[in-house]
Formats: sequence, structure tokens, C-alpha cells
Amino acid sequence: MQSLTNKRILLGITGGIAAYKSADLTRRLREAGADVRVVMTRAATEFITPLTLQALSGHEVRLDIFDPHAEAAMGHIELARWADAVLIAPTSADFMARLAHGRADDLLSTLCLATAAPLALAPAMNRQMWLNQATQANKNILEQRGIRLFGPGEGSQACGEIGPGRMLEPVDIVPLVAALFEVGLLSGLRVLVSAGPTREALDPVRYISNRSSGKMGYALAEAAAEAGAQVTLVSGPVALATPGRVARVDVTSAKEMHEAVLARAPQHDIFISAAAVADYHAAESAPRKMKKTQGKLALALLRNPDILEDVAALPQAPFTVGFAAETENLELNAQAKRAAKKLDMIAANWVNQPGLGFDSDENELKLFWEGGGRLLPRASKARLARELIAIIAEKYHAKHTTQNS
Ligand code: C5P
Repeated sequence: MQSLTNKRILLGITGGIAAYKSADLTRRLREAGADVRVVMTRAATEFITPLTLQALSGHEVRLDIFDPHAEAAMGHIELARWADAVLIAPTSADFMARLAHGRADDLLSTLCLATAAPLALAPAMNRQMWLNQATQANKNILEQRGIRLFGPGEGSQACGEIGPGRMLEPVDIVPLVAALFEVGLLSGLRVLVSAGPTREALDPVRYISNRSSGKMGYALAEAAAEAGAQVTLVSGPVALATPGRVARVDVTSAKEMHEAVLARAPQHDIFISAAAVADYHAAESAPRKMKKTQGKLALALLRNPDILEDVAALPQAPFTVGFAAETENLELNAQAKRAAKKLDMIAANWVNQPGLGFDSDENELKLFWEGGGRLLPRASKARLARELIAIIAEKYHAKHTTQNS
């Protein structure tokens, strides 16, 4: 487990049902070695009592800016200076809005303005509130100011809806807090990621595509950015939000993805090809909607260029990582692909097992590189992405140390 030994974490709690998770979060932050002090908004106290947080943090919980007793012990400016990092979990839509506008009308918002420490938010709210343009605009403002957003996750919500807006689980937040103190594993490096499916037009309304959701590639782009890399994400059509601090380039067809990736690859240190690129395109895309025919319709298809192979063959090729989605002979096929495409690493996964691979939130990866490999057991794509990025960073640095020595 990543350590937070001697790190002083100011945990802000705002009003939302996810506040019940803040008790567990406090406990886990302390288990990781942090000294935790809790500040709650008035609304947060409607969901969880300050006494619970006091017992778990071992310190009196602060609620008001106008509290002479608390201010005598540690004034709000002192508290803002005390923190090595400020984490607000859960962060409500209202608090994001107040933060985006620099309000200082309660203790927590004042502390956020007064601190020089890194600030991280774990948003939690109803999915419509999260997707609302106002909240999305506030999110962009906050991220542009260097404020980190952890999540939100997707799934069932306390309000009975399903979608984005769940607070990340405490077990997933703690390593992200620890990462705030790490010099990024990929800092100073440029990482190019391809993600999602491609669409190959048959006529103006129809296309051939596949079941890729883009989730793995997006999680990798996010994890690479968290590790300090400058990330470019070339994305096929997906229904996912762009991760913070990631530059996204949208493409539709394999040909467009090929052009976008090949134009950028030489300026990148690492290329991760997580896209499910269509292998074929229609020999002729009809200019008008095709009419039904009786009986059989034969489509002539032509091979698409292999983007990954072309990147790996560049004279100054970046460190290249491919994916292999397999339904049989996983290891054999993946090894053969790695060799044929001359890749530094390949990540193989099953796509015919329930709950894994395409369009699911979890995956299991088997990694292969020259002379070795590693199994990354079943986990959320977000967690797997962080593990994979750590291994890619290690192998990238090992390769470059050998080359330079
Ligand atoms: O050979 P296969 O399609 O299984 O290889 C999968 C890997 O190759 C993935 O990393 C995928 O992104 C990449 N690929 C590509 N261009 C293609 C087909 C696959 O970059 N036309």
C-alpha cells in the first residue's frame, strides 16, 4: 500500500449521502499513516455526525469559521498552512460551484482559498447534476486551476439512478491521495493513447464497428496523466468524458485514426494502442443510403492499415504497447502479435468471458514483454490502468537506461 506516513491531510466533507463513506476514508487515511483533520460544512452534519469523525480522526472536527474556541487552538489560516494536502470527499455540486467562483462564505471554502497545498475533490452527486452543463463547466474551471478530481465513478446511486456521480470508494481514493505526493512515474514524458472503436462507413447512415467502449483506453490516459505525463488521447466514437489534463483528438474511421496517430507518434515517448481498430473498411462507401435487395447482399471489404505496426516500425519509434483481445489461445496469440508487430509490450485480455473485456468495467490482463510477463488479476479498469502504467513506466525507464549506458 502507498504510504501517507507523516502526511497532514485536511479532509473536507460536504453535504451528500456519500458522506457516510468519509468515516471509512478517515480510518483508511490514518491506516496509511496520515494525520487527518476534518472540516465539515453545515450540510455535511445532516448526513454524518461530527462526533463520528472526531472519534476516527482523533481530533476535534471544525465546522465554523466564527468559533472562538477552535480558532484559539488553530486559526483557520494556520489550519490552511498546516495541510500537506486538502481532500474534499464527498464534494457536492454546490461546493464545486462555490469553489469555482472563489467563495469564502464558510470555513471549508475559506480554507480552500487560503491553502497553498494541493487540492483534490472526490465529487458525489446525482448523475444529472454531474452531467449538468453548469457542473461540467465548473469541473473544467477547477481542473484548469490544477485542482485534481478523483472520479466520480459510475454505477447505481443512492437516488436510485444509474450513471456517473458515485463517490469513488475510500480504498480507491487513498492511493490517489498518496500519488499527490509522488514525483510522477512518467513526469516529463509524452504519452499517446488510442482508444475506442472505429466506424467504417458503408453509406451515409450505416457503418461497421465493434463493441469497444473505450473505457480501458480512457482509464489508461487518465492514469498516465496522474503519473505526470503529458497525454494525447486519439479517440474513436465513445460516450465517455475526457479525463482531466488530457488532450483529446476525435476520429471516426481507422484511416482517420491512422493519420492522427502517425502524425503525432514521433513527438511522443510512449504509444499505448488500446483502440479496437476495425480490420476492414468497405471497398466502396455508397454516397447515398443503400436500398434493400432481395436475398443476399455481398459487401466487398478491404484491409485497414495496422496503426500499431506502423508506429512500431517508425525510425524513432516510441515505446509501443499493444492490446490483444482474444477468444482463444490467449498467450500464444498475444506472443505472436507482439513478435509480428515488434512491440515492447502487449496486454492480452479475454473478450468472451462474462464481465470482462469489451464494454465492461472490469478486466484481467496478461502482459508479455521480451523475456517475461505478468498477470494483472481481475480488477476495475481504473485500478488495472494504474498498475499497467506503473509497469510501462518501469520498462520504459529500463529500456532507456540500457540504451543510454
Ligand atoms: O492484430 P490485432 O488486431 O488483434 O491487434 C490488436 C492491437 O493492434 C491493438 O493494440 C490495436 O489497437 C492494434 N491495431 C491497430 N490497427 C489495426 C488493428 C489493430 O493499431 N488496424
